[in-house]
Amino acid sequence: SRSIRLAVVPGDGIGPEVVAEGLKVLDALGLTIEQTVYELGAAYWHKTGEVLPDATLEEIRGHDAILLGAVGDPSVPSGVLERGLLLKLRFELDHYINLRPVRLYPGVGTPLAGVRPEDIDMMVVREGTEGLYAGAGGVLRKGTPHEIATQESINTAFGVERTVRYAFELAARRPRKKLTLVHKNNVLVYAGDLWARTVDAVAKEFTDVDVDYCHVDAATMYFVSQPARFDVIVTDNLFGDIITDLGAAVAGGIGLAASGNLNPSGAAPSMFEPVHGSAPDIAGQGKADPTATVLSVALLLDHLGLADEARRVEQAVADDIIERQGAWAARSTREAGDDIAERVAG
Ligand code: NAD
Ligand code: IPM
Ligand code: MN
Repeated sequence: SRSIRLAVVPGDGIGPEVVAEGLKVLDALGLTIEQTVYELGAAYWHKTGEVLPDATLEEIRGHDAILLGAVGDPSVPSGVLERGLLLKLRFELDHYINLRPVRLYPGVGTPLAGVRPEDIDMMVVREGTEGLYAGAGGVLRKGTPHEIATQESINTAFGVERTVRYAFELAARRPRKKLTLVHKNNVLVYAGDLWARTVDAVAKEFTDVDVDYCHVDAATMYFVSQPARFDVIVTDNLFGDIITDLGAAVAGGIGLAASGNLNPSGAAPSMFEPVHGSAPDIAGQGKADPTATVLSVALLLDHLGLADEARRVEQAVADDIIERQGAWAARSTREAGDDIAERVAG
């Protein structure tokens, strides 16, 4: 089989710990993989004053996919690494789909009462390159009592349409064929209207998909009170960020939540990463759950057309979860990776 050129960005905090386990599981599949590790993040910034040099970005561009751990460190001003590394990669590589499954695996404890795995099975399609993340805005009279800080949400017809279209295509392939737009069009009238009109227009091409709308505040309530009402959700960058941490919590915790930053055109490599951050509170202690990274590896395999391998990894995680019921925290990061890798190897 062909060799996969994989760029690895372990990053900060628990990033390197969970990435090591993700790679261990990938190795257990016996594929031919050429890895290039990029030591970017807080230490690199302290040493060089740079976050992501152009030449490094260009090198990363030459890979088939990227596996990223997490970025962000208390010793670096907030935003320097998050914007300069993670968001720069998403924007430069045009990762306009941020795909975040929210799924309750059998055997996982949810804080919701009476909820079964079949009640929590959704795909959040988060727009990845626009919205409030675009960085538009500025500050006037900084540091004075009259400071004015603006942060504008950028929503283009092009960007919204390609995201909505991806979400409809995904919904049409799923058994329930339901798509919910999550926004706040009762207040954010310009952006919300563009999103709603785009959903209406694209819906005409997908007559078998059921379309629904939900304000984001109500959506957070339904995530807890009626998660089964959601199948595919399409939403903007910031709402998608927030509801997927909530999704992670209702589906058993942030240690299980995987994501793919996709460039569906294939013009640049897509990037796979756990939804969680660098968790400085537990970094270096071997306490991090690597499962989210392992499940992100499964999304990576799916993206590269290796569906059988992706299912093997997901099945190994599912079986591992069943076996470790009740002993959730009793295992180190490395032991968890070993257990899953062993299952994958068969
Ligand atoms: P966080 O996700 O890092 O941590 C939130 C809580 O979840 C913490 O209590 C942490 O210990 C726990 N947690 C996270 N991952 C876990 C895992 N795999 N296993 C067990 N527990 C886990 O979010 P935060 O505290 O808001 O942010 C910390 C830093 O990470 C900040 O610098 C932030 O900007 C950055 N961040 C980066 C990413 C990313 O790289 N994609 C995502 C979110 C936050
Ligand atoms: C995530 C993170 C990032 C985001 C931050 C670190 C830029 O929270 O991947 O969910 O907001 O997208
Ligand atoms: Mn987030």
